[in-house]
Amino acid sequence: MQHVHDFVEEKITIHTKDWWKEAAAGIPNIVTEPPGPQSKRVYDKTRKFMRGLSSQVKLFPVCFDEGYGITLTDVDGNKYLDFSSGIYVTSLGHCHPKITEAINKWTNKLMNCHDFTTPVKQKLLEKLVDVLPGHLNAVQLYSDGATAVEAGLRAARAITGKHEFLSCYRDFHGKTMGAVSCAQMFRGDVLSYGPTRAPGFYMVPHPNPYRPTFARADGSVDTERYLRFYDEFIKEATVGNVASFVLEPAQGWGGSIFPPDDFFPKLRKFCDERGILLFADEVLTGMGRTGEWLCMSHWDVVPDIVTFGKSFGNGFPVTAMIVREEYAEALDRISASSSYGGNPMACAAALASIEVIEDEEILENVQRVSGYFQKRMHQMKEDHPIVGDVKGKGFLLGLELVKDKQSKEPFNEAGKLVYQKAFRKGLAWIPAGHILRMSPPLIMDEKHAALGMDIIEDSISEVEREYHYV
Ligand SMILES: Cc1ncc(COP(=O)(O)O)c(C=O)c1O
Repeated sequence: MQHVHDFVEEKITIHTKDWWKEAAAGIPNIVTEPPGPQSKRVYDKTRKFMRGLSSQVKLFPVCFDEGYGITLTDVDGNKYLDFSSGIYVTSLGHCHPKITEAINKWTNKLMNCHDFTTPVKQKLLEKLVDVLPGHLNAVQLYSDGATAVEAGLRAARAITGKHEFLSCYRDFHGKTMGAVSCAQMFRGDVLSYGPTRAPGFYMVPHPNPYRPTFARADGSVDTERYLRFYDEFIKEATVGNVASFVLEPAQGWGGSIFPPDDFFPKLRKFCDERGILLFADEVLTGMGRTGEWLCMSHWDVVPDIVTFGKSFGNGFPVTAMIVREEYAEALDRISASSSYGGNPMACAAALASIEVIEDEEILENVQRVSGYFQKRMHQMKEDHPIVGDVKGKGFLLGLELVKDKQSKEPFNEAGKLVYQKAFRKGLAWIPAGHILRMSPPLIMDEKHAALGMDIIEDSISEVEREYHYV
């Protein structure tokens, strides 16, 4: 046991900011056209028993074997450049030495002790509260995003004594029943497991700048009209008992869609005036993904309830639900704790992740390299007839493919083809239909950002030629 501890401490001290670079030399490196024979073999055997795979896996059934930093290796020996971070999860790179060693320490020491506290939990809570804005300092920990969202919904009801919720078209908050009730639903889902939106949950239009429901004469989003509509909706369609507005600060699953800059400051005021809590689901956007700890900080807005997940433990399942100090007492009334939430390994992963963001100046890197991404994507929009729109902040990025820039008709077939072609060239990523979503690890430098964008641009060009656009 002692030996393991010595080893752990030693390894932590030797890692540097460039720990991932050696493994990334020469990527992507495709030695067998993917998905190769070994991938196919494992996939076919898995598929005999595993159902419910995501569309991205079905479209490109590769089997991964290793990940280190920004590099992924499949079972056929192909090396890929990671442009997805798992699914916005391994944001500080796969197997970050500090985070891995922090988790390992607790796998050898103490794995679970219900919600009794531990020194590592105490340190995590202090660190987390320290990096959060405002008085966001009443915390509970969970092991997946949807459960944290559920807890946020229960907290909103306990705080306000009200029971209704509003969320936005094309939002996504997880797959438990409360969370799916605040999200886009699909005909197929509804047919397979019945009417899924719970009573008291309502959806209202999202101010998508590229496809606004309410626009000014020049085509830009008319935020005031959205708010007027929300007001009318509350009066006409609810029983006037809205506990919370639940939103993603930027829609991740929906395709990296950010609202206009004046939306959240105005929505904050709107909620305050009506006694409605503002619940920012930062499971996907939080922990530096957009260049801030909280995406809402781009607009200087402090929500009442926040959820964290995905990047929070850089791959270890740990999530959080946090409310403002003035509402802390409500968390004692919602049976907040869970079996796995806040276990020592989880706390160690989250604490180490926050420390890495600080020590390696990750927010600064995201802010710097995002400038390159934006410039490059805007140039692609100029140069390519099927690139209709550029989206994103930080490393939460998207290119929207359309059949025609005038009609803006979504080009789903092109989305699928670009996805597969780029993957075949060595880019591991997870677009969403006709929106090419990109979520590279936050440690990525401009050189590798450029490599990834080259692969995407080449793939777009090939599709344009196949469809006779050029
Ligand atoms: C904004 C948001 N909230 C909640 C969730 C659910 O998280 P999990 O898959 O860990 O349950 C997700 C997952 O993609 C998400 O993007």
